[in-house]
Amino acid sequence: MKMYDIHSHILYGVDDGAACIEESIEMVLQAAKGGIKTMIATPHYIEGLHSNNYKDNLDKFNNLIRETDRLRIDMKIYLGNEVLITPELPELIKSGVVAPLNNSRYILIELPFFDIPSYTEKVLFNLEMGGYRAILAHPERNEHIINDLNILYDFIRRGALVQMNISSIKGAYGKRVYKAALKMLKCRMVHFVGTDMHSPEKRQLDISSAIKTLEIHCPDQVNKLLQDNPRRIIINEPIIAGELCRIGRT
Ligand SMILES: [Fe+2]
Repeated sequence: MKMYDIHSHILYGVDDGAACIEESIEMVLQAAKGGIKTMIATPHYIEGLHSNNYKDNLDKFNNLIRETDRLRIDMKIYLGNEVLITPELPELIKSGVVAPLNNSRYILIELPFFDIPSYTEKVLFNLEMGGYRAILAHPERNEHIINDLNILYDFIRRGALVQMNISSIKGAYGKRVYKAALKMLKCRMVHFVGTDMHSPEKRQLDISSAIKTLEIHCPDQVNKLLQDNPRRIIINEPIIAGELCRIGRT
């Protein structure tokens, strides 16, 4: 299987991910070793903290591509952002400050860990009206969603898609996140699995063991999560969320 990783902080010197190009390369090699063939670099965009303009990211991205080509690393790399939700999100896309994944209709959005801001629904609606589709980054780590997965169910029913971190199903963020992640998989509330890798050291990945866990819990979804759906992002094709079930409190 040619695996895709749609969420990574491999772009150097732009956020709390890779610090330098050497570290970027190390991370790409680590992903390649785990069987990943295609990655999307998704630098944070957090107003006032990591607010690099997409054009600046693009310069560094082009350097990174030149280097991976020079080293003949077998990895296709694309660019996007992971944007912390803000009421200005539609304008930020429009003005080119942030970018959807590979400039497709799909935009990777992060919610705060301890809050679901009151403007979230409105922002998601405005994005949809603008022709974009939201992908929620690792919602299994959001305190409100952990407590009530039906919040996530409602977002999905309104058109949002879900990216889960591969390390959530390995217990890297604790038992509550692990349990929420498994329930999400069981209820088909996950559409992509990503690494969210920040450095070669942090969040050490054992991709093959995470895949084995996926194969145990949702064997029929593994291809869809790691290959079919992510491929559709790259070529900007529609993604069908599929059937999901409403579940009780965790
Ligand atoms: Fe991230």
